[in-house]
Amino acid sequence: MNKNLLFDEIDKLISLSWMQEKQFVKYGEMRYALLGYNDLDIAKWESEHGKPVLDTRPNDYFSIQKISKALEAKISQVPKEIHVSSPLFQDWQVGVKHSLKQIMGSECIMLLKSGTEANLIATDMLSHKNIPVYFDKHTHATTRCGFNLARGRMLESIEVFKKALNRLEKSNTSEEDIRRIIQKPLLKILESVGFYSFNHNDYDDLDEQIKKHGPGVVYTEGLFSVYGDLLNPEIAEIAKKHDCSLVIDESHSLFGTATSDLTINRTLPAKADILTASLSKAGCSLLGVIGLQPEFFEKRYIYLEKKLNRPLTDAERERAKLSLFNLFRRHTIFVFSNAPSDIEESGLQARMNFLFQNPERRAILLDKTKYIREKIRNAGIKLFS
Ligand SMILES: Cc1ncc(COP(=O)(O)O)c(C=O)c1O
Repeated sequence: MNKNLLFDEIDKLISLSWMQEKQFVKYGEMRYALLGYNDLDIAKWESEHGKPVLDTRPNDYFSIQKISKALEAKISQVPKEIHVSSPLFQDWQVGVKHSLKQIMGSECIMLLKSGTEANLIATDMLSHKNIPVYFDKHTHATTRCGFNLARGRMLESIEVFKKALNRLEKSNTSEEDIRRIIQKPLLKILESVGFYSFNHNDYDDLDEQIKKHGPGVVYTEGLFSVYGDLLNPEIAEIAKKHDCSLVIDESHSLFGTATSDLTINRTLPAKADILTASLSKAGCSLLGVIGLQPEFFEKRYIYLEKKLNRPLTDAERERAKLSLFNLFRRHTIFVFSNAPSDIEESGLQARMNFLFQNPERRAILLDKTKYIREKIRNAGIKLFS
């Protein structure tokens, strides 16, 4: 359908007075591009047309970006702000980390500057030779970017083969023999870089692929950024059935945008090992987070207990937990890139407090979403979820 027609159709069918009533006044970037208006013309457009329009640009799902408490908190940090060279040196910001830990049900939290950083670290840390990676076809671009980073790291070992090749060439080995000697291990390396995409939310496809390539890491999203649909809980079940680790990007579902729970993970029959999220969506802050979940550490404890052939003591468990956490904290992005800003952190804390004190915001968002989706569907426009 032509975009112009689509917007006209939505306009006709969605009662804009309802939106005004609910103070859902937004304008759309695409619409402005289509009409040739720019940002400065909003008021003009609205007065000429006598109605507000839908804004598709911001991520402010709960309409909390500009609440006074967040603005005040951010302003109070301005005179104090220092750009810390690494999150390793920034051990304050404990309030936000504690709140996120509670919301996400995590054992350990890594606060980062963006969801991109969170996905790059999570994908890179969990991608190893011989461990297959499975990802939903609709998984966010930043996760794929991380896979490419991991692929690159794995392919580094090809350098070792190049050196061996040089040595063989110097030793007057015949070309045919060189090919024979090198080809097999080289192919093995290439095959070990196993990244497999499965059809979107398709339980059977994932099942088949894991049966073929073996247990590994499954990456998916809580609320998909592509079509706005929710994770099929059976994906989590199949991942766990095959003893895979499960990583869920909760960028769009964190704080309860789509369910009555604060994360999608809480609603699943089998829980994730790692959660990642951009806090720029419902949290309206230029931050990201990785949550290392109890299930992630539990795997490590089981492994160590098998190795030692006895249960771990509390102190040993604590040490094992810290060493695994520190492994993540040694990632290049965590060590060598700037720490998250205190200004953003204080804004996020104020918004989270506000959300806890005003849980009805979640119900309002779900209500609006339901209404608009119904109207769009009634207009004969196909929604993919
Ligand atoms: C699902 C998902 N993951 C990660 C990101 C990246 O987050 P950020 O913009 O904070 O880098 C986005 C942003 O669009 C996203 O939609």
